[in-house]
Amino acid sequence: MILMKFKIVKDYQELSRVAAEMMADIVKEKPKALLGLATGSSPVGLYKELIRMNQANEVDFSQVTTVNLDEYLGLPENHEQSYRRFMNENLFDHINVDKNKTYVPNGNPENLDTVGQEYDDLIQSLGQIDIQLLGIGHNGHIAFNEPADELVVGTHVTGLTEDTIDANARFFEKREDVPTQAVTMGLGSIMGAKKIILVASGSGKAEVIKALQDDLITTQIPATLLKLHPDVTIIVDEEAGKYLNK
Ligand code: F6R
Repeated sequence: MILMKFKIVKDYQELSRVAAEMMADIVKEKPKALLGLATGSSPVGLYKELIRMNQANEVDFSQVTTVNLDEYLGLPENHEQSYRRFMNENLFDHINVDKNKTYVPNGNPENLDTVGQEYDDLIQSLGQIDIQLLGIGHNGHIAFNEPADELVVGTHVTGLTEDTIDANARFFEKREDVPTQAVTMGLGSIMGAKKIILVASGSGKAEVIKALQDDLITTQIPATLLKLHPDVTIIVDEEAGKYLNK
């Protein structure tokens, strides 16, 4: 009994267009929508498409609020690789969003013990996330909820696995420069979103995407927990979807 919907599209460009349309439709329907956003390479094309649509007056972001999934711990906010900077450069600087209503977890908190609760309180005060955008790690992580025996419900500080550090080293000069910890939403806020879309492209994600199609869940592949959510759409290009039963 799989509730997830799978959309297999030709390539990254089409994936970006289809996912951007789904997000724009939510904003057209509800101009004050609360959007859950992600970083990484997967959503870059989708954000480009949203920028195009905004600049062509097809969608208006002036009243939306956004909350991001995660942020590296310890990088200055303006560091080239901070997720705040990523969001500004890849989306916020180019659309008519009110930047004061864009939230990214604090990567330099005074108190590591309360940073998670503060972000959860913030999300709670904003209401239900109308649509949560996700990428997926090739190890099955969503946000920085890494494979483990137990997963955390609330926003929390977490260590990154060696796998994820390897994967993210491509963005840094040296592997040693990749932060080893992050602040991440837990499964609670993600599963609490009204609608979820997960985008993945390229053959490196094909195996983990296949694991989303069977009837099992495991904390060792955190994305499999999305099978319990009533409204999830997985959008993949042909390469990432190559092992899916069509
Ligand atoms: C980013 C995030 C991560 C990425 C994942 C895939 O905010 O939460 O879970 O979505 O690591 O990254 P890319 O898209 O670079 O393959």
